[in-house]
Amino acid sequence: MYIGSIDQGTTSTRFIIFDKQGNQISVGQKEHAQIYPHAGWVEHDTNEIWQNTQEVIGLALGKANLSVSDIAAVGITNQRETTVVWNRHTGKPYYNALVWQDTRVGNMVAELAKEGGADRFRATTGLPLATYFSGLKIVWLLENVEGLRADAEKGDAIFGNMDTFIIWHLTGGIEGGIHITDVTNASRTQLMDLKTLAWDDEILQTLNIPKAMLPEIKSSSEVYGEARGVLAGVPVAGDLGDQQAALVGQTCFAQGEAKNTYGTGCFMLMNTGTKITPSNYGLLTTVAYQFGNQPVNYALEGSVAITGALVQWLRDNLGIIEKSSDVETLANSVEDNGGCYFVPAFSGLYAPYWKSDARGVIVGLTRYVNKAHIARAALEATAYQTLEVLEAMEKDSEIEISSLRVDGGMVVNETLMQFQSDMVEVPVVCPAMIETTALGAAYAAGLAVGYWKDLDDLKQNWGIANTWKPTMETEKRNKLHHFWKKAVSRSFDWEE
Ligand code: G3P
Repeated sequence: MYIGSIDQGTTSTRFIIFDKQGNQISVGQKEHAQIYPHAGWVEHDTNEIWQNTQEVIGLALGKANLSVSDIAAVGITNQRETTVVWNRHTGKPYYNALVWQDTRVGNMVAELAKEGGADRFRATTGLPLATYFSGLKIVWLLENVEGLRADAEKGDAIFGNMDTFIIWHLTGGIEGGIHITDVTNASRTQLMDLKTLAWDDEILQTLNIPKAMLPEIKSSSEVYGEARGVLAGVPVAGDLGDQQAALVGQTCFAQGEAKNTYGTGCFMLMNTGTKITPSNYGLLTTVAYQFGNQPVNYALEGSVAITGALVQWLRDNLGIIEKSSDVETLANSVEDNGGCYFVPAFSGLYAPYWKSDARGVIVGLTRYVNKAHIARAALEATAYQTLEVLEAMEKDSEIEISSLRVDGGMVVNETLMQFQSDMVEVPVVCPAMIETTALGAAYAAGLAVGYWKDLDDLKQNWGIANTWKPTMETEKRNKLHHFWKKAVSRSFDWEE
């Protein structure tokens, strides 16, 4: 028997089948369209995503010559915060999904911060006011889609992040689909109280969001229901936001263990145990996971919006590389960044700055600078942003990070990983299985049905594939960091 994992990410949807040792047996993957109706707006067509989900499940099963009866349970992991509202009777979405990177609620952030400041919901939710989280996206939909508020009040229009949306469809959709989410996803809506793990009535009232539209909050690992359709009969038993899933996939179960995932953005999470650790240095306090009725584990998180997405931007918007993997060769065709720094504040700046009105800048340009320097600056930007998050993480947690566990698509870039180690001045360690996000959701589902016994069982599956150690002279490293910080300051207050 195997465990299946649906990974509904920002750019694609995948279904991965794992065995007991955590090996990937088969994968089906499909990209979906990124819709940019205006500057700063990012949407997804949820019908396309549900269609793709069903297709990739069939693809992965077919490739491995497996049938649904070979799958002991399925877990779901997802791009977090992305917001969709649909009708429970027709299944039709009221609007495209508003993607986490979407900045259209910038004005609401400023307006709400007038009373109580940007941290007015932080004590309850662990999050500062920002365009990033689901709550304000729901408000935008309620205010801009005709008839939606009335339907939401009646409980006909229901909200979900992509986990909720997929689970609802997977378990029957209009014919009795279950409307649930897990504690990790709920912790990113800015509507859940971190202590009680329940929707916070006061925030709902302030934002005027009808409670009837919200899903029931469950643990990250339990049998929620049974799948119908493509996975008919398979228990749906795991649900985690993708970054929390990667933490689980990396088996960071002990307090102080941290991982950094390099995807569209970069997300560093540190397990802080059963303690809620508030941040004073620009990080988020969030739920790490909850397995069944065990106590919930919390995390500190440093979210960086644009890292891998910048490489895609070089490919799609500038056309200076043909495919993403070409960025390494281009960056290596020059010795250094030539004095050029690229701050990709395309969705404002997230951790540790939280500046919704920052915008991207390329600075330090001279006639000497060419496209290879820009490619190099783009790669370096990922490492500098991670460095700043790591510094904040150490200050907030008072734990020194002695090595950085990494995963995600960009870790195949050796140049970036070496530079990352040079910047953070500790070894960067990559496990053999880099699909930790999908693996984490599989672990959650497998634990719920007894496929894996306990966390020790999972830890045995983790092994190191690669380590990069720092080699750069401190003086050089400090100089690069100094100019990066100067570049960041140039990206601030762009909308003023
Ligand atoms: O918070 C956003 C994050 O969950 C997106 O992750 O991997 O889909 O870019 P990813």
